[in-house]
Amino acid sequence: MKVSVKVGDLTKTPAGLLTTSLFEDVKNPGGATGAVDTALKGLLTELIKEEHFEGKEGQVLLVQTHGKIPAKRVLLVGLGKQERFSVETIRKTAAVSLKKAKEVAAKTVASVLHGAGTGGIKPEQAAEAMAEGVLLASYQFSKHKGTDGKDAEHSVSDFAIIEQDAKKAHAATRGVVEGTIDAQATMYARDLVNEPPSYLTPTALAEEAKKLAKIPGVSAIILDRKDCEKLGMGAFLGVAKGSDEPPKFIHLRYKPAKSRQRVVIIGKGITFDSGGLSIKDRKGMITMKMDMAGASAVLGVFSALPKLKLPIEVHGIIASTENMPSGQAYKPGDVVKAMNGKTIEVIDTDAEGRITLADALSYGVTLKPDAMIDLATLTGSVVAGLGDLYAGMIGNNRFLLDQVKTAAKDAGEHVWELPLAQEYKDLIKSHVADMKNVGGREGDVINASLLLEEFVGGKPWVHLDIAGPAWADKPTVSYISEGGTGFGVRTLLHYLRAL
Ligand code: BES
Ligand code: ZN
Ligand code: ZN
Repeated sequence: MKVSVKVGDLTKTPAGLLTTSLFEDVKNPGGATGAVDTALKGLLTELIKEEHFEGKEGQVLLVQTHGKIPAKRVLLVGLGKQERFSVETIRKTAAVSLKKAKEVAAKTVASVLHGAGTGGIKPEQAAEAMAEGVLLASYQFSKHKGTDGKDAEHSVSDFAIIEQDAKKAHAATRGVVEGTIDAQATMYARDLVNEPPSYLTPTALAEEAKKLAKIPGVSAIILDRKDCEKLGMGAFLGVAKGSDEPPKFIHLRYKPAKSRQRVVIIGKGITFDSGGLSIKDRKGMITMKMDMAGASAVLGVFSALPKLKLPIEVHGIIASTENMPSGQAYKPGDVVKAMNGKTIEVIDTDAEGRITLADALSYGVTLKPDAMIDLATLTGSVVAGLGDLYAGMIGNNRFLLDQVKTAAKDAGEHVWELPLAQEYKDLIKSHVADMKNVGGREGDVINASLLLEEFVGGKPWVHLDIAGPAWADKPTVSYISEGGTGFGVRTLLHYLRAL
């Protein structure tokens, strides 16, 4: 599907579906919606009354035009209350219209630029959100389905935003370009998360990194077990011991000709988390192919970076392995030593993410970064506290925390800051090592972060625990389907753009 912007008159545009929108409790539509209503000789106003269309967010009204205008059908989508309107509403509205178009088997959609009129959103931002909403809503993971499954859904080939004002249309075009880049990177990350764990092994993840390194400006170093041993990555390799799949340590680099800053982004890359010897129960294990969602976000960002041409040097670090039980597996009671020389006592082999990150972060520090951001499906604790839409955010640097918070807001992703509470440090004290990997169930999201802090070498650092929003058990938002969500890609891209 292609999203585009055209200068023109919506009422004169042929399309399988024409979509426009209305705020809650507006009885007489104005602007573009008003023009469509006039062209339809007041049919919309009539139906708004008769069908009790209140304009509640996501509410829809579908009308056949019977040749009164070139478009075959008109879809009116409710925007909800004007005071609660935001860019996120635009994303959702565009997604709803795409889904409806699929339902009625419309191949082409002509749409108003939602929110740029009375909504008061800048055309560029509105168009960016529309492109994201439409493309993300069109996402399907059908690779492993037969032809029946693949053809079951109708697809839209063209989604055109029609704008009369040439200047606004020009700005909107820029927005669509940005939104398309972000959505494509997000969908790439979703694909990686959705891929079955026996396909997407650490080796396969490393192959993806090598593929990205073919793009000019991007390079990749892949370290195998031997290389990691030489570097002293005993923590990462400890977790990898139980798996028959060889571990891979991935280092991606994007280096522009001139750069202002060096940013290191790190993703947890457990391609399957069985829990190891502290094995999970059957329910807890079902979705654990998603334990590399942080890694997929990093790869997603690298797929977009060459298109953005930002003057920022970006490094992507992924310590990838499975976490499996076996005769070789690391055991509760074991002590592992990370690359920076610090030791960790293993209390629970299921708290493996923080152990692999210990080496990933230590390696990141050696790159002398101006900022480090890690994304990890790290704890069930953060899901218990914040649910499945919010990532927990913890860090050691106010300025960087605020930058990430702003980026997430701009990207339409939810993050919520939690405290890096030094009062809890005693909980991860060990009798035999520098620290232990679990300090009890209470506040585990914080305890885990306190452990990570030991490996960031005092660099400005933000940790995003994405265990909740990385995966959707059911489609809760109109542009999010069941499975991997690609969470974090858009926040990181917005963060990097803002630098
Ligand atoms: N990968 C899990 C965390 C997770 C849980 C991600 C649910 C997504 C959804 C992590 O490795 C883990 O197992 N954490 C344990 C830690 C505990 C043993 C202290 C947890 O949260 O149960
Ligand atoms: Zn685990
Ligand atoms: Zn895990």
